Amino acid sequence: MLLDDAINSRRTVRSFLSKPVPKEIIEKVINAGIAAPSPLNSQPWHFIVVTGKERDELVKIIRKFPAYLADILALYPKELVPLISEEKITEFAKDLGGAPVIIFVTMPKKTDKYAHKVDLIACSGAIQNMQLEAWSLGLGTVCLTSALWVESEIMAYLGIKDQELVTVMPIGYRALDPDPVPRNYDSVTWIGF
Ligand SMILES: Cc1cc2nc3c(=O)[nH]c(=O)nc-3n(C[C@H](O)[C@H](O)[C@H](O)COP(=O)(O)O)c2cc1C
Repeated sequence: MLLDDAINSRRTVRSFLSKPVPKEIIEKVINAGIAAPSPLNSQPWHFIVVTGKERDELVKIIRKFPAYLADILALYPKELVPLISEEKITEFAKDLGGAPVIIFVTMPKKTDKYAHKVDLIACSGAIQNMQLEAWSLGLGTVCLTSALWVESEIMAYLGIKDQELVTVMPIGYRALDPDPVPRNYDSVTWIGF
């Protein structure tokens, strides 16, 4: 798939087939993340890839996030909130749309604001690379930051102390291709053109 096609056709996927994803395919997705740029090539990301029994145990933790939905939605502009279906979110959360694999993206805990910000930017690039690579391989992903509301329980289960959770990314073969959602192409200021 051409890069332009991947960028423009990719959708967030919240419904997956139970068909297992071969490890070599997940490796391609992870390698796309690792290919992302980072300050001084520091590669601050770490990926924890979970399937099987442990995936099921982690879903039991992650599915608690809808309890925080009111707090999550309070962080966004009011006009976006009616577009959200609490029912659909709760349904998705029960088994994360059936995604057979979950990728946890973490980075080192840092107190310096600048150092933290640049690490986060690097991880965001890695996440986007992975989402595009996954899409081009016929897979789907969702960048599930709502799961950060149960970060401490997730990290305790994974036994990780010195890292913070950047996102949770369920991944698998797509059960359906979601419709595109609109973009606002006015969000740019041109100077000197
Ligand atoms: C930083 C970030 C956080 C997101 N968090 C969530 C989330 O918690 N739950 C969810 O279902 N989708 C989440 N998404 C997916 C967005 O809802 C989705 O990207 C957006 O609606 C645009 O749809 P599209 O990805 O299909 O173009 C997130 C996406 C990004 C980039």
